[in-house]
Amino acid sequence: VPAGPELFTREFIADPYPAYAHLRKHAPVHRTTLPSGVEAWLVTRYADARQALADQRLSKDPRRSEAAWKQGKVGVPGEQRSGVGAHLLNLDPPDHTRLRRLVSKAFTPRRAEEFRPRVQALTDRLLDDFARTGEADLIHDFAFPLPIYAICDLLGVPEEDQADFRTWAGMMIRHGSGPRGGVARAVRHMRTYLAELIHRKRATLTDADDDLISGLIRASDHGEHLTEDEAAAMAFILLFAGFETTVNLIGNGLLTLLTHDRERLALRADPELLAPTVEELLRYDGPVEVATWRFSTTELEIGGTRIPAGEPVLVVLAAADRDPRRFPAPDLLDPARADNQHLAFGHGIHYCIGAPLARLEGQIAIGTLLRRLPDVRLALPADELRWRGGLIMRGLQRLPVTFAPETD
Ligand code: HEM
Repeated sequence: VPAGPELFTREFIADPYPAYAHLRKHAPVHRTTLPSGVEAWLVTRYADARQALADQRLSKDPRRSEAAWKQGKVGVPGEQRSGVGAHLLNLDPPDHTRLRRLVSKAFTPRRAEEFRPRVQALTDRLLDDFARTGEADLIHDFAFPLPIYAICDLLGVPEEDQADFRTWAGMMIRHGSGPRGGVARAVRHMRTYLAELIHRKRATLTDADDDLISGLIRASDHGEHLTEDEAAAMAFILLFAGFETTVNLIGNGLLTLLTHDRERLALRADPELLAPTVEELLRYDGPVEVATWRFSTTELEIGGTRIPAGEPVLVVLAAADRDPRRFPAPDLLDPARADNQHLAFGHGIHYCIGAPLARLEGQIAIGTLLRRLPDVRLALPADELRWRGGLIMRGLQRLPVTFAPETD
């Protein structure tokens, strides 16, 4: 492998795509040391990534990597040692199959679609707060609060408690090199709150309760078994998986459009372009840079490289979605791209269950902002923007913009 750009440096975090191009070409299945000290394989080509995401020999159970798990260095947070860590993203079949079936009953694409007017109202309310001022930080004022309020509504968290979630969510978003302690504390707060809410709702459940937590409780009462612990783990993972990802879709998406005048103007002129544009934004600079952890349960081969049993394997979605073997001119933003089957929502049995809601939120947030603030522009050069960093997510710390204040 010829020496390439270094991974995980500040330059890499700002723009990882050149390094991924190098890996795809010279070391498509590459063993490296992560900033946490854990050794892991990075899979960067589209075909290999898609195959790995669907490969049942790659487990999601972090206990497969015993030493790293004990140090809390692998797996998706959720207090791994207790019930709430037993959620979809840390489980394999058959446990995963049973839980996924239950949540799929309660969280259907139709339910997401029914949520459209609510997401539109939330979006407009957030915009009302700053549209007359002429400036905003589109992360702090817009992309960050929208998903957390949307998921709280969906789950059935009473409005008076939603400000707490905004605070806890703020602790979970990594700011620069912020300590992980904030994440652990936020997870504890959410866990305690959700467990109590589920307990309360279970005691008072009526047919009129149509929120998602009530749906989860009900699914468990029809002969299938969802314990209160499992319901709490499920509510937590919906929040955890659906929050920062959507922040990044809106943030990365708006940044891309603010630096692509032609595509932004085309979108403003023709709202029909909204859906394909959001799809292309998901491919071009998606919210999830690296899929969540996988571990080889047996010796296996990916793209001709032998991987021993018991090793962490990370599928780099951001690299796969820029693979020229799959997408012609991959570094070009092209909303008219044909056959845009990106991997931003994953693939296989862990494919994102929130994709319909995420698409809806992304389309409404981006479409409404560009319609209401038609001359919105960056308040500083794009290369001065800071990215949050961290292995899994790709998102901005701030997105300062200016615009002509809205009048009436
Ligand atoms: C799984 C991306 C929004 C809930 C996933 C996975 C990806 C992903 C890549 C698979 C991870 C893996 O295989 O390692 C995204 C993106 C989003 C988004 C890019 C926003 C643009 C949401 C929302 C929700 C959600 C809004 C829920 C409200 C979940 C859940 C899983 C998941 C529960 C685990 C599914 C399973 O393991 O069976 N998501 N997601 N996501 N997502 Fe999303």
